[in-house]
Amino acid sequence: MSISNFKDLLIKIQRADIPSVEDLTKVLSCGNQDELDSLFSSAEWIRRKFCGEGIFLRGIIEFSNFCLRDCFYCGLNKHNLKVKRYRMGRDEIMSSVESLAGENIRTVILQSGDDPGIDTLWLKDIILEIKSKFDMAITLSLGERSFKDYKIWRDAGADRYLLKIETSDKALYESMHNEMSFNNRIRCLDDLRELGYQVGSGNIIGLPGQSLEIIAGDIIFFKERELDMIGIGPFIPHNDSRFNGKKRGEALLTLKTIALTRILTKNAHIPATTALGSLDKDYRIDALGYGANVLMPNFTPQPYRKLYEIYPGKKCVDEPIGACNFCIADMAKSLGRFIDYGRGDSLKEKKLNLNV
Ligand code: 5AD
Ligand code: FES
Repeated sequence: MSISNFKDLLIKIQRADIPSVEDLTKVLSCGNQDELDSLFSSAEWIRRKFCGEGIFLRGIIEFSNFCLRDCFYCGLNKHNLKVKRYRMGRDEIMSSVESLAGENIRTVILQSGDDPGIDTLWLKDIILEIKSKFDMAITLSLGERSFKDYKIWRDAGADRYLLKIETSDKALYESMHNEMSFNNRIRCLDDLRELGYQVGSGNIIGLPGQSLEIIAGDIIFFKERELDMIGIGPFIPHNDSRFNGKKRGEALLTLKTIALTRILTKNAHIPATTALGSLDKDYRIDALGYGANVLMPNFTPQPYRKLYEIYPGKKCVDEPIGACNFCIADMAKSLGRFIDYGRGDSLKEKKLNLNV
């Protein structure tokens, strides 16, 4: 394709309500430097126009690595008996929240495996305590639960929920998630939306059996659901998972997916994911330059942080608490951007509130 045809294709995608899988696939397969430059600069233009120059921070606390699932890609799958399992106590969680509040971070992500040992009311009390002590948004990321649980936490003050679809292709999804149903995952996303959470989802790039058409379908899925946040990261094989020895996802394809997602979704929050920072180099910087606007510094204390090994070589596992903050400030500076210490609520919601 000539570069001018490629640019026309990008404009067509940008203007389309829902572009075709075919058009998105053409962009995902682009290879020459002119095409890449044009894709990435369009994504940056949209990011600047709809999200501005600020980079939002979300401090993540991985408070339990128990998991009853058997995701073929994940190191925390229930068959992995090598992982020492932990669940942090309420005081430990609160002191981690305090340390991120001390760094002026105004969103905490409480993340865990799909852990039925997390008592609904125990977590509700923690949410109430965080809300009473700090002016902070709470994002939960605990996997699939009932409508009732989601409601109790929402009523207690939880603001947002992250639940990645991982792949929007039902057959591929069910081939790598034993005993899980794609429909239930969609049910959860629908429940969260209905309850008024700001909803985040996302996918993994380079999963075995995933085609470019499937990734194009993921991008359409993000757009159709008007998601508030979208996390996109490369697949990194874990030795103690069923996908041991499989090929890892490519950074470039991940970056192209981020850029296209920005072009389509305009003002969704898109993090430069930790997985992108955990490859041969730190590609989070590239992601921030090609459409991403969020970073997620890790506030899980040791010895737990090392034990939350979703994939090997995870960024920041040996850094002391707070180190990520310095590193991230440098990253922003090197890009000529700034850290926005606001809560970073959904820009979609803001738009609706302002009636524009
Ligand atoms: N490689 C990359 N990302 C992974 N995740 C889980 N396992 C892997 C892996 N091997 C991602 C999933 C999950 C998030 C917490 O981490 O998208 O939702
Ligand atoms: Fe953790 Fe850079 S983000 S050290």
